[in-house]
Amino acid sequence: VHKGHGVKGLAELGLKTLPHQYIQPPQERFDTSSCEEVNQDSIPVIDLSNWDDPKVTKAVCDAAKKWGFFQIINHGVPIRVLEDVKDATHKFYALPAEEKMKYSKERSGTNNVRFGTSFTPEAEKALEWKDYLSLFFVSDDEAASLWPPVCRNQALEYIRSSETVVKKLLKILMNGLNVKETDETKESILMGSKRINLNYYPKCPNPELTIGVGRHSDVSTLTILLQDDIGGLYIRNADTMKWVHVPPVTGSLVINVGDALQIMSNGKYKSVEHRVIANGNENRISVPIFVNPRPGDVIGPLAEAVENGEKPIYKHVLYSDYVKHFFRKAHDGKATVEFAK
Ligand code: SIN
Ligand code: FE2
Repeated sequence: VHKGHGVKGLAELGLKTLPHQYIQPPQERFDTSSCEEVNQDSIPVIDLSNWDDPKVTKAVCDAAKKWGFFQIINHGVPIRVLEDVKDATHKFYALPAEEKMKYSKERSGTNNVRFGTSFTPEAEKALEWKDYLSLFFVSDDEAASLWPPVCRNQALEYIRSSETVVKKLLKILMNGLNVKETDETKESILMGSKRINLNYYPKCPNPELTIGVGRHSDVSTLTILLQDDIGGLYIRNADTMKWVHVPPVTGSLVINVGDALQIMSNGKYKSVEHRVIANGNENRISVPIFVNPRPGDVIGPLAEAVENGEKPIYKHVLYSDYVKHFFRKAHDGKATVEFAK
């Protein structure tokens, strides 16, 4: 493997066949027979222009319970901000390899900035066909000194301008659990920290043999995902166990429930398994913002989520321990949440 240059570097060597390190076991490869058709009953697209309309709040809570995923339109994040962060992502990946390597874990000099490839290469039997730049947000000042100049302002602007819709969605979801007041402590646990990833999935020589991102669920409270118009994100329908495509919708953001919210809601909101296929014809990018508890927060079922004598499914865990557990192993579906049982 062309070390350090990521899969983009590999793809640009003009490889005709996939390097063996990327060959996934048959059960992890994309197989159309395990997929279901997208139709009007699939993952909802919710118009948030009247976000306090009971029909809208019900649609959000229902989607979080049934699918764990939904798309939002008229969400208030300016389309220009979304276009700018997509352009900035392409610009970052167009930098010379040497320039990008300055942001690798080894060279960035901080855990808050990490340019890498696959997910946990040291722990994976087969690698994933994906490069990423992961930026943990601390402050504008830190970003100004540590984040790559080609994408720093665009990433910050996207984080800033999605703040309002994140708050709205969490408020709706908390009301759905009978949480009336979101006090400061609760708000800090729900959205105390943020991480943004700039993902790049280069065109792949043998897409049928590998995967862009393996099966996993997010460790976040909520994830706000911006995808381009290529497609390839699939989620597990918990009723049929089949995979359903999340079709790109112009101007939309994809929202999904993460493990932290599943745990806090005592399983009422679902953190659903998802994956990204490799593509033989196009390069794809995506830009998720992970809205997370703070590393030092303790997460567990909220009092309101178990108030009718319901049994807590999860115990209380330190969020940083939970995240460490996720990042110690290869992607393995929904296995991480067992850590909180
Ligand atoms: C992920 O879930 O890790 C990435 C999602 C995407 O690229 O669409
Ligand atoms: Fe994910």
